[in-house]
Amino acid sequence: MARQPKKTTVTMEKIPPEKIRADILALGLFKDTKRLPTELAALDKAAGQVISNLLKLGDFTGAANQAAVLYSNGSLACRRILLVGLGDKKSLQLDTLRQAAGVAARTADQLGAARLAMALQTLIGEKLDLELVGQAVTEGAISGHYDFQDYLPASKDSKEVQNLRISLIDSKAAAVRKLNAGRKTGIILSEAQNRTRMIDNKPGNEINPPSLARQAQKLARQFGLKCKIFDDKQLARMKMNAILAVGGGSASKPRLIMLEHNGRRSAKDSAPDAIIVGKAITFDTGGISIKPSANMETMKYDKSGGCNVLGILTGAAQLKLAKRIIGLIPAAENMPSHTSYRPGDIIRTYSGKTVEVQNTDAEGRMILCDALHYAAKMKPKAIVDMATLTGACVIALGEHNAGLFSNNDPLRKAIEKAAQASGEPVWHLPSDEKYLEQMKSKMADLKNVSGREGGACTAAAFLGAFVDDTPWAHIDIAAVADTDKPKPSRAPGATGFAVRLVLEYLRSV
Ligand code: BES
Ligand code: ZN
Ligand code: ZN
Repeated sequence: MARQPKKTTVTMEKIPPEKIRADILALGLFKDTKRLPTELAALDKAAGQVISNLLKLGDFTGAANQAAVLYSNGSLACRRILLVGLGDKKSLQLDTLRQAAGVAARTADQLGAARLAMALQTLIGEKLDLELVGQAVTEGAISGHYDFQDYLPASKDSKEVQNLRISLIDSKAAAVRKLNAGRKTGIILSEAQNRTRMIDNKPGNEINPPSLARQAQKLARQFGLKCKIFDDKQLARMKMNAILAVGGGSASKPRLIMLEHNGRRSAKDSAPDAIIVGKAITFDTGGISIKPSANMETMKYDKSGGCNVLGILTGAAQLKLAKRIIGLIPAAENMPSHTSYRPGDIIRTYSGKTVEVQNTDAEGRMILCDALHYAAKMKPKAIVDMATLTGACVIALGEHNAGLFSNNDPLRKAIEKAAQASGEPVWHLPSDEKYLEQMKSKMADLKNVSGREGGACTAAAFLGAFVDDTPWAHIDIAAVADTDKPKPSRAPGATGFAVRLVLEYLRSV
């Protein structure tokens, strides 16, 4: 039988670490801690000096995400202590703690320690706001415990924890109050992100445009969102010809999925505060311009932007944001067949602009140009789109930053601030007129590719041609949406990158 998804609960408790009853207690230690910090003296004594002995030996350096499990041989109520390295105290950031919490959750999971107490904040001092600390460690822990195991049998030998019960602990009432406020936000944001990862991780034989639309409807019912699905017949009536062209080669017909959270007090149907758009190519073979077979299996993640929208809209509903937010997911499968669109085709897109297709593998910008123009016509205050759009962005920035493009400086800055808060970093790249110039076609308004040079920027400039003057930001998540390398703080697979970022942005405006 397939496994049930893992559960993680995070609660808050006012209790000193030496009193907590748990299977494992996680503490954070800075790099080069030579002597036992006074805050840990009582705990160390109760544990039979295991921490001070370790520090004397110097085996634990405290490098970021380093982990050491100690077994208390004293009178401690907790059977294990987990030390997690926090790196240099000077360079401490919220994300250091977020990742440390992920390490703690993954270590507890591997050890079969179902009750995890976390006091990672014990030694951090005053530098960081404790509410934000409570949020970050909650996010890190819930994200750290998630793993894609839907198709694996429930294993008898593995000790893995199905229900991980995490308790954030602190002995001071003021700290408990702040940590607890952050904990509530952290649960919503990281559960939204895991919801995205659960769908994004599913393969192309399970998720196609119609089944993705059903997932959206199910989530909409569950979280109280409005949901409208445009099927291929409606798309044809609306002249969404670019979405139809890309989806034309597949037996699973394309869809445009629309979700809405309206948290405004007045019932008036006024302009949306934000429209969040996400590319959902449920599988990208490249189409007639077919991709090489090496690593093609990773193209199931070409729906990451769209899956992000599902996480973001359900998260916005749970946060009860007092805003009107619309999610738009153009969904298609890019397949080669006798009904595919071809290189050389000229498509009259929803905007009326014509596009010469020179490469059917540049399909993301095609489905997005129809969705973005549909968004712009609703005159929202801002449009933010996310897409696994270009291999060029992977080459430009590697896996450490997503590419950020925008036609509006205040919006760009708000996104950069949210990226900082969420620990999902972005790097601003240009997409001005000069790049759009490269996308002009001799026989249509635009072509869908130009040369290899500046490929992420020319793709972004193409998208920007469909939003009119609406403030717009585009996040190219091609390099960050999935990973085959497990990290100490996170399982491999879909990352849900930008779900927390965009939710932080929506909270901030
Ligand atoms: N989905 C890909 C982009 C991609 C590449 C995502 C690598 C993740 C990892 C996109 O549809 C694509 O194929 N883009 C082409 C565009 C080119 C033909 C102009 C690319 O980047 O090679
Ligand atoms: Zn492609
Ligand atoms: Zn693609």
